[in-house]
Amino acid sequence: MILTVTLNAAIDRTVAVPNFRLGRRHRAVESRTVAGGKGINVARALALLGRPVIATGFVGGPSGTRVLEQLHEESVLTDFIEIAAETRINLAVIDPTSGEQTEINERGPAVSAEETKRLFDRIGYLAGGAKICVLAGSLPPGAGDDLYARLIDALRRRGVPCVLDAEGEAMLAGTRAGAAMVTPNETEAEELVGQEFADGSDLATGLLEIVRLGAEQAAITRPEGCVATVGEGSERRLLEVHTEPLEPVSTVGSGDAFVAGYVAARYEGRSEEECLAYGVACGAESTQHFGAGFVDRNQVERMLGAVSVHDLEVPAEV
Ligand SMILES: Nc1ncnc2c1ncn2[C@@H]1O[C@H](COP(=O)(O)OP(=O)(O)OP(=O)(O)O)[C@@H](O)[C@H]1O
Ligand SMILES: [Mg+2]
Repeated sequence: MILTVTLNAAIDRTVAVPNFRLGRRHRAVESRTVAGGKGINVARALALLGRPVIATGFVGGPSGTRVLEQLHEESVLTDFIEIAAETRINLAVIDPTSGEQTEINERGPAVSAEETKRLFDRIGYLAGGAKICVLAGSLPPGAGDDLYARLIDALRRRGVPCVLDAEGEAMLAGTRAGAAMVTPNETEAEELVGQEFADGSDLATGLLEIVRLGAEQAAITRPEGCVATVGEGSERRLLEVHTEPLEPVSTVGSGDAFVAGYVAARYEGRSEEECLAYGVACGAESTQHFGAGFVDRNQVERMLGAVSVHDLEVPAEV
């Protein structure tokens, strides 16, 4: 099976508010509450794609219980560590008139050293049945920026490759720890390599830099698809995987759907190119739904036909 790890789970509440303005009182025309946190969104998408998945991580308090209930309703198998503090609640306001989206995310509960140890024990146990693991989203406050790095290390020793989607120091440490694949968007990738990308050749250099930091492979996502590394050593190639940007219903979680698609294809032993293309098709399809990690498997197959792959020039190493 595929294991997803969500260390800062959430209840994600999305409300649609036409003509949203700061400082005013509004009436929501539509609202939806789902279990969230990036790893959970990936697990949802994997379940919708028909792949065997177990979601683990931390949940706590009444909102943590709600996360588990929601996932069970969606037929996502769970094996979370229950913590003392309460799982956070995030709010997103979507304005259907402008298409703009405002997000207010809580930092989430802290976890104790004992709870973290229980997590490592549980993941060590689950690793026995896992073919691949997804580590995605923010870390609990005070957990230490090296938590993903330590998990990547522990899972590698058990032969389980990790796909990492995170930001900032946690992403940097996990990349250095040798994640099998890292999937930043453009802004996160710029932060990871400490340099802004002005053009396509900067993106190519950025990919090589992420690999030099320690990741086995990297994909930098963007609305028109992704650029990514494939192969190793002197066989390493850079690919651009392209799809026409669509008019989105909501782009929240398109990166999570990309990760799910990539992992779903990798789970089946598809080629690196096919995994990237399937990820891009899932990311694109997810923009047509309200809520993170929702994908329609049949539509993904249709969208795959519009995804093209071509080689990028590999810049000379500096
Ligand atoms: N407007 C769009 N039209 C078509 N596909 C899109 C669009 N926006 C995103 N995608 C798809 O989703 C994938 C991930 O997108 P993006 O880089 O925007 O993710 P992200 O910033 O990580 O999002 P999040 O972290 O909120 O889930 C892309 O690779 C692309 O395939
Ligand atoms: Mg993302």
